[in-house]
Amino acid sequence: MPIRLALLLLCCSLPVGAQTSSLLPVPASLRPGTGRMVIDSTTNFAVTAFSDSRLEQALDRFRGRLARRIGQPVSRSVSRTATPRSIAIDVSGRGMAVQGVEEVERYTLAISPEGATLQAATVVGALRGLETLLQLVEGDGTTFSLPALSIADEPRFPWRGLLVDVSRHFMPVEQLKRTLDAMALVKLNVFHWHLSDDQGFRVESKRFPRLHELGSDGLYYTQDQVRDVVRYARDRGIRVVPEFDIPGHSTAWFVGYPQFSAQSPPIAIRREWGGADAIFDPTREATYVFLARFIAEMVPLFPDAYWHVGGDEVEGKHWNSVPRIVAWRKRHGFKDNEALQAHFNRRLSVILARHNKRMVGWDEILYPDLPKKTVVQSWRGTQYLANSAKQGFSALLSAPWYLDHIKPATDYYTVEPVPQFDELTPAQQELVLGGEAAIWAEFITAECADSRIWPRLGAVAERLWSPREVTDVADMYRRLEILTDRLEGMGLRVRSHSRRMLATIAPGLDVAPVESLFTAVQPPGFGQWSNGQGTNHFHPLARLVDAARPDPAGRWATERLVRRLALNASDAAARDTLLQLFEGWSLLLPRIERLATQSPTLAQALPVAKVLARTAVIGTEALGFLSAGRQPPADWAAASAQELQRYDEPQGTLRVAISSDVRKLLAMATGGAPAGRSP
Ligand code: ACM
Repeated sequence: MPIRLALLLLCCSLPVGAQTSSLLPVPASLRPGTGRMVIDSTTNFAVTAFSDSRLEQALDRFRGRLARRIGQPVSRSVSRTATPRSIAIDVSGRGMAVQGVEEVERYTLAISPEGATLQAATVVGALRGLETLLQLVEGDGTTFSLPALSIADEPRFPWRGLLVDVSRHFMPVEQLKRTLDAMALVKLNVFHWHLSDDQGFRVESKRFPRLHELGSDGLYYTQDQVRDVVRYARDRGIRVVPEFDIPGHSTAWFVGYPQFSAQSPPIAIRREWGGADAIFDPTREATYVFLARFIAEMVPLFPDAYWHVGGDEVEGKHWNSVPRIVAWRKRHGFKDNEALQAHFNRRLSVILARHNKRMVGWDEILYPDLPKKTVVQSWRGTQYLANSAKQGFSALLSAPWYLDHIKPATDYYTVEPVPQFDELTPAQQELVLGGEAAIWAEFITAECADSRIWPRLGAVAERLWSPREVTDVADMYRRLEILTDRLEGMGLRVRSHSRRMLATIAPGLDVAPVESLFTAVQPPGFGQWSNGQGTNHFHPLARLVDAARPDPAGRWATERLVRRLALNASDAAARDTLLQLFEGWSLLLPRIERLATQSPTLAQALPVAKVLARTAVIGTEALGFLSAGRQPPADWAAASAQELQRYDEPQGTLRVAISSDVRKLLAMATGGAPAGRSP
């Protein structure tokens, strides 16, 4: 990226006078103290009460990360008593043998020039506090230090998760571990492992080996790898909730075991996205015997008290097309396929109860006579969350937090997880356990996963941890930039993903113009997928869109500057910065045109580069009218608004990220309301 554009974007993300804190999530309470505690090679460490190997390992990792943060070796010894200028960890006990929803994650931090004490009832609480301590390290010209303060922190919700879909595209163990490290950084505590779907069955089964042998293209986790991931997560205070999605989204099961499907063999792994090919036959006793034996084999791998059965998007046509199933359903008095699925779920909940597992499923499993211990995960809308709570079920929110929908971080951040529109009693509100973001992987491979998950997941993590009143979007964006740095430092490819992928796409070419383009264009959003995507399971996903990032820096920069101008149309600094950004984006076009002659993949940038240039030109003209205080000609304004509206749509496989903000600018210049909305 040209240095000037990078600097302009940087100055937009670091507002003058912003608080210096980089904590993410913001703690429940923080009281500043006086002075600071110097951190260097002489800083001591103490574990003054309970200790176990999990805490010892966490402290080892902490010291390693601290050493790298301050660029000096740190003390190698850990004492049993606090000493002057030590970081002392005072933990009362281990916490739950298997971490659960009830785990106490509370901690306090007291930092003064004389030393720091981290107190927690459980090891998991200490893990949360250690992450906070690392984020507090700051420096001046000569020393690193922790600011004197006291923090009393605990999460707003006990269930704060991320779903990772490893079925549509397999994610290697290393990728999952990186994700877990990053989740721990922002205090997320549930890894929801979506292990089977139409496109792949991803766990080794010794009892039913054709599941992974025929249902995975050879890309599956061995049972040892599963144990390793679960242990790795536990060491970081993260629960692992497995999901084997049934009775729909289950084509991959039937490649090896077609006898449990409503459909006849042969059944192949589904290679296209969306829609199932085959679903379970809920009318045969053999189906439940099979599932019970499968679950019994898997239970020891997944110690969590919750078990996700999926249950979403069960396509009734697959039952309706089988006369035997329709006749059985009628004979047994189930009025429709929903009732038939509820029967299937009741059978599952009995199997799971034998293993002391609580059943979790998507919206569609909600049925009045399900056991009340069932948890419903809402993906279709917040109103479904309210419906579940009103019927007495614990509920998880996911609908607004699908990261693959490529919405800006603002949208993920400004969600209120407890429905306000629909009066829930305090007891019903208590049933909202929290929520999960989700990264569905139709268009996501391990190669781009970091950049599609982060830093936006940080916005969800804060919403689920921090007090409800923490809602400053500008400050969130400021801290997401810092989070991105931290994640890059840990080895995630959040920002660096684009450069790596462009190196694959165009070795030897100067792709700086494309990197600049990526500051203002992004992958299309949900619902815009079909437009130009044309991929299936065999596609390498190495198109230009796969190198682009969601919510690019130029989008927030533009929004911020337009907001400033809305408050004060004569804010010359905001106007000039915006003009420079627009100029930078419009000048990209000839450079992109040259690159486009050297690679068909780079040529994918042409349509969006043209549209970005036009958007920037309209923005520049609107700014001209605005700063001159002159009304633009009505026909020009109307034509420009219409033109910008079209630019919300993808141009090929990419779309301009700033069109709706430039439309706002245009509306300001014409003194009216913005025309239309961005998707
Ligand atoms: C889902 O997105 N079908 C759970």
